Amino acid sequence: MAVPLFDTTTPIAPLRPLIDARVAEVLDAAIYILGPQVDAFEREFADYLGVRHVVSVANGTDAITIALQALGVGPGDEVVVPSFTFYASAEAIPPTGAAPVFCDVDPDTCNVTAETVAAALTPRTRAVIAVDLFGNPAPIPALRALGVPVLEDAAQAAGSTLDGRRAGALGDLASFSFFPSKNLGCFGDGGAIATDDDALAETARVLRFHGSRDKVSYERIGWNSRLDELQAAILRVLLPHLDTWSEGRRAGARHYADAGLGELVRLPTAAAGAEPAWHLHVVHHDEADRLAAALTAAGVGARGYYRTPLHRQAALAPWSAGVELPVTDELARTHLALPINPLLAREQADEVVAAVRAALAA
Ligand SMILES: Cc1ncc(COP(=O)(O)O)c(C=O)c1O
Repeated sequence: MAVPLFDTTTPIAPLRPLIDARVAEVLDAAIYILGPQVDAFEREFADYLGVRHVVSVANGTDAITIALQALGVGPGDEVVVPSFTFYASAEAIPPTGAAPVFCDVDPDTCNVTAETVAAALTPRTRAVIAVDLFGNPAPIPALRALGVPVLEDAAQAAGSTLDGRRAGALGDLASFSFFPSKNLGCFGDGGAIATDDDALAETARVLRFHGSRDKVSYERIGWNSRLDELQAAILRVLLPHLDTWSEGRRAGARHYADAGLGELVRLPTAAAGAEPAWHLHVVHHDEADRLAAALTAAGVGARGYYRTPLHRQAALAPWSAGVELPVTDELARTHLALPINPLLAREQADEVVAAVRAALAA
């Protein structure tokens, strides 16, 4: 039986009647932008995270750019960011006028550390982007102790916790993506900024709406970046299930370990104090590409996500000259995502492990 890399439909299938009803309510109300659904979702997601404010935006990339601008990041500044992450984590920096500065990551957690970030700090550093990669929370308390504002890129970590606090509540601000395949995904593009800071939230609110508070006066160049009412209504149906789904993702990772996957490849390492809601179940092997090809041929979803790390991407070359990140290069070469979803069963984990065993023996 095939095991897909993702399953975004089965977990939400029982919710379909409620989603249909809520979508119909939005159509009946005929309010599509910045209405009651967005207000309610922002309140509910803030309460879930345990922060004072959520400001929803159009996607997780805009969330990073707007959050950085709210922090005051602009031309002449530097923003430290890992190279082993999705492109948007760094792509979102130049629109502020600032320069990305790439740092290395920990070989076990795949996340930045206080040491790798400290090595990239200069007098021009205005912020650090700490990505909770694959759902594994970055060591944000240690990063904040460095004295530079931290933006937590929690796009992959909805439902994760670190020392009992939710991912997305750890930095000065956090950004989320609600892209459909994410742990909390809507039916299109969506994103949000979370923060405890009243002033940062207020600035983000102005920035997402053309730099205006009142639609008639414009105090700065902003963005047109909103979560729409339909997506907010859908997210309100899904949010109460996020913790159950996150537990399902953790159970999926346990199934792999119990099925003996760790004898064949290096398993993901949860950060100390973390309960990751694994967005991707990423293992490591010296022959990751050969393994991926064999698994795909056997009907098992397998993919290297960041084979070319960001400091080796053409568009980011202006900020990458002379950058050497040996751990990032090694992880980029060896990582491989295997199937994970909130309902991954032990039988599916057994099949994946059997396919990995067969592929490595071939
Ligand atoms: C780590 C990370 N940051 C940022 C983003 C950007 O989010 P979006 O696709 O909603 O713009 C994503 C996901 O796509 C991501 O995985």
